Amino acid sequence: MVKEIQDGINRQIRDEFFAAYSYLGMMAYFESKSLSGFGHWMRLQAQEELAHAMRLVDFLIDRGSEVELDAIESPRLDFKEMEEKLRPLEVMKIALAHEQKVTGMINDLYALSVKHNDYPAQVLMQWFVAEQVEEEKAAGEIVDQLQLADGDVSALFVIDGRLSERAEVPEDDESA
Ligand code: FEO
Repeated sequence: MVKEIQDGINRQIRDEFFAAYSYLGMMAYFESKSLSGFGHWMRLQAQEELAHAMRLVDFLIDRGSEVELDAIESPRLDFKEMEEKLRPLEVMKIALAHEQKVTGMINDLYALSVKHNDYPAQVLMQWFVAEQVEEEKAAGEIVDQLQLADGDVSALFVIDGRLSERAEVPEDDESA
């Protein structure tokens, strides 16, 4: 594998771990507010990011390439500045913006694998391209619903109940 792709995948591993860390911070925030449905959704989201990172780690190992584990930044999530009533919406907007950023990074990695005619990397990145459609859709739907709720507490609890139903992804599920 060319160094440029290897470096890009190593950066993506770090960023998937960073995403897991960010979602853990959001999980802790929601749990502290007794919004356990949001907390549950974030907990599973963090687990999913770890699975994404491991998929990339395994790919490098399978290709005989070097796994370089970079430092993971603190997500520095400070929600105190936000208006209390609108905080869940603002937090979910951060999550959505993060997914949109990751989509751009995945697209760049896919373009890189095309540039270097690396077919296995293209197949891997196609999986991530499709996954990012799901990731943006899931976060975007919650943002839309919170926007419709417009700070209404009853609506917030309805959304929280719906998010509590998010199913865990089985460990051996290839679509995770
Ligand atoms: Fe690893 Fe949420 O994308």
